[in-house]
Amino acid sequence: MLAISLAAAPDGSDVLVLPVRAATDPDDAAPALVATAPPPTDEVRAQARALLPVARLTGRAGETLTHLRPGGSPARLLLLGVGDGGERAWRTAGAALARAAVAETHVTLAVPVDASAGAVRAVVEGLLLASYRFRLTEAGTTPALTGVTLLTSTPQAYTGAVETARTTAAMTRLARDLTNTPSAVKTPQWFAAQVADAAADHPDLHLRVRGPQELADEGFGGILAVGAGSANGPRLVELDWRPADARQHVVLVGKGITFDTGGISIKPVPAMKLMRKDMAGAAAVVAATLGAAALRLPVRVTALTPLAENMVSGSAFRPGDVIRHYDGTTSESTNSDAEGRLVLADALGYAARELRPDLLLDLATLTGANAVALGKRTGALYSDNDELAAGVLAAVADAGEAAWRMPLPADYLEHLGSDLADRHSSPDRGAGSVMAALYLREFTGELRDRWLHIDMSAPSWADGDDAELTRGATGWGVRGLLRWLATLD
Ligand code: BES
Ligand code: MN
Ligand code: ZN
Repeated sequence: MLAISLAAAPDGSDVLVLPVRAATDPDDAAPALVATAPPPTDEVRAQARALLPVARLTGRAGETLTHLRPGGSPARLLLLGVGDGGERAWRTAGAALARAAVAETHVTLAVPVDASAGAVRAVVEGLLLASYRFRLTEAGTTPALTGVTLLTSTPQAYTGAVETARTTAAMTRLARDLTNTPSAVKTPQWFAAQVADAAADHPDLHLRVRGPQELADEGFGGILAVGAGSANGPRLVELDWRPADARQHVVLVGKGITFDTGGISIKPVPAMKLMRKDMAGAAAVVAATLGAAALRLPVRVTALTPLAENMVSGSAFRPGDVIRHYDGTTSESTNSDAEGRLVLADALGYAARELRPDLLLDLATLTGANAVALGKRTGALYSDNDELAAGVLAAVADAGEAAWRMPLPADYLEHLGSDLADRHSSPDRGAGSVMAALYLREFTGELRDRWLHIDMSAPSWADGDDAELTRGATGWGVRGLLRWLATLD
């Protein structure tokens, strides 16, 4: 990961990055160089100022211009648009800087005199997230950029912001790595081993992994049914951050289907292509829990990830099977491609009955209908608790992610009815993402009004690079969850 440091004096870097703010007054369309401390030399400042009109800069967030200064020091000036100077704009600017400077080895960014800690956090997150690469081989180009110095006369004002940004980005990058990893490698057992590795050097993190035998002994029928068709047996990972000063307990459940073929109700080729990402919810909740531990947030957080591979084989579960869940209730499953809710039902039931937290959240790449309703960037958020929904929505937005609250309409509930079992897991009426949420709510027991679900199928993946997102897994949810957890006390 790119090394970010704070310094009070220029370090002789070849590249000096100067922020440019967009015009704020509609009558005056000129962008302006932002005052930084320490200031650049008079010569550099005069040159940068002269460049603004010549290069037709607007100062929009993410705009960049590199200016060569033969024989000068610094040898290159990089003008960086920071828009309105808000956190979102700085995040975009940081991402643009990481891309504009890929061929440099080191750059120095002059921090504005009045920069908030939030702006510094945002620019660092942008830098660290946009410079992410996932590769399994050494082939191809690795970015030359290895370090960014933030030049400010008050470095101590920003050490906390830089540290939080570093942890947030490192955890988002971990979630991206896990999600991008091909499923031939990423078995449930492998995922559990990655969690064990990541948690190893933290004394206050407790890990329990249940294998097929324990799942059978304890009645996790949904996880076992979905995992039954695979040679790679299912697991249930329970990772607990339990600080001594915690006053609240949050359980974060994440869907961990390491590959989703659809099972006997097999998916067509285009729909199956990216189904290695069907554990993005599990990756997000594990990374957020590790992040809470790294930041020592004073809240108990338990990540619970049911992991299974939904395969087609002679031992796979069948359409029409009836499944008995952890809480003792049964589901009729007529479509083995609605597998996520079956494993989540067990985990939610276990959390509600045994862990009894104050708040219960789940993140899942649950339905294609998420993208139909909200497009490719926005998660579908469900909760009966207005305060919880508002808190999570605000944190997600502040973090630079997006979610939209969706309804849990009572008059669709009848579609969950089944002749064979307590409920039907894949009704063919109602709206896809909404019905899945209504189904999950059935397993929340006494936590029904303290439960929140996000269908994050769509924003878990990016088709191309865009601002802090890089092509492939986005690590969606890690940033929003960490922000939200930090608001609890
Ligand atoms: N993993 C898929 C949902 C999905 C689709 C995630 C596209 C990411 C991108 C899920 O298991 C699934 O197959 N859902 C079905 C539900 C249906 C059978 C009720 C769907 O959305 O079609
Ligand atoms: Mn499926
Ligand atoms: Zn799935």
